[in-house]
Amino acid sequence: MINGHTRTCGVFGNPVEHTQSPLIHNHLAEKTGENLVYVPFRIPQGYVGDAVRGAFALNLLGCNVTVPFKSDVIPYLKQIDPLAERIGAVNTLVRVEDGFKGYNTDMPGLYRAFERDGVKIKGEEVLILGAGGVARAVAVLLAEKGASRIVILNRTVDKARSIADEVNAYAGRKLVEVLPLSEYASLGETLGDGSRKKYLVIQATSVGMHPKVEEVLISDKAFYELVHTGYDLIFNPIQTRFMECVQKNGGRAFGGARMLLYQGIIAYELWTGKKISDELADEVYEKMLEALRNKR
Ligand code: ATR
Repeated sequence: MINGHTRTCGVFGNPVEHTQSPLIHNHLAEKTGENLVYVPFRIPQGYVGDAVRGAFALNLLGCNVTVPFKSDVIPYLKQIDPLAERIGAVNTLVRVEDGFKGYNTDMPGLYRAFERDGVKIKGEEVLILGAGGVARAVAVLLAEKGASRIVILNRTVDKARSIADEVNAYAGRKLVEVLPLSEYASLGETLGDGSRKKYLVIQATSVGMHPKVEEVLISDKAFYELVHTGYDLIFNPIQTRFMECVQKNGGRAFGGARMLLYQGIIAYELWTGKKISDELADEVYEKMLEALRNKR
């Protein structure tokens, strides 16, 4: 029940109408007995600083920040978590004494999704498709979680190169390599036992996203022979063509919905200090999938 004690959280974005976050947080609040409501806030371009000050003045408990404000919001924060600073993007604001502290829960969210889906990172050789902001954050996460080799494949090699240089400088070794997207064949290797080398592949481009669901970055079957697990960060549609291609070649495939869920769960845990059980996470996940399916 909304009453005099109700706390407010929300998401700053533009557009914001497609967001799944109110569903996630309002369900969590109901199930954990927290007197909290979560609403979307469409922020005009250029007003994110006013929004942060306004959120503090209105006693908001916390906020999420989505496209296009994840970097723009940083100058208006009182504190920033080191991981968010390294990634250069903030998606969660937590109220502190004199303002807000910024966090990035997208990458910890992806990692928790990997764990839930049984996808191992430590010691793994991983391919990242794409070199935008999301790919950059993924490269930072993989380096931090102990991947043994990271190869970034991108149409524009220079963009991949700049991510690789940055992560390698941080790692202190040549952990990240780059490759033009069209040259994936050079990754094929026959192992000592005669089998072919396979990789975990993270699809971090926007290709295949709704409404262009028929698109896929690489359609060549030979590429999918290099894939033991494909993780598409796109969550709409739930089943992408990339995932389909991976599955057709006998690989395991996952989509981005669980990452979306866990970035929300981690934000909720930061705001409330409550730990969300796997059971409740799975319940919210089902609700989210249902909402995503009904969207179209
Ligand atoms: P985000 O910040 O969300 O990651 P982005 O910066 O626009 O988004 O990055 C999108 C990524 O998808 C880029 O790596 C882009 O490749 P380029 O760096 O060559 O532009 C990739 N991408 C998008 N559409 C593509 C297409 N049709 N073919 C190949 N790559 C594509």
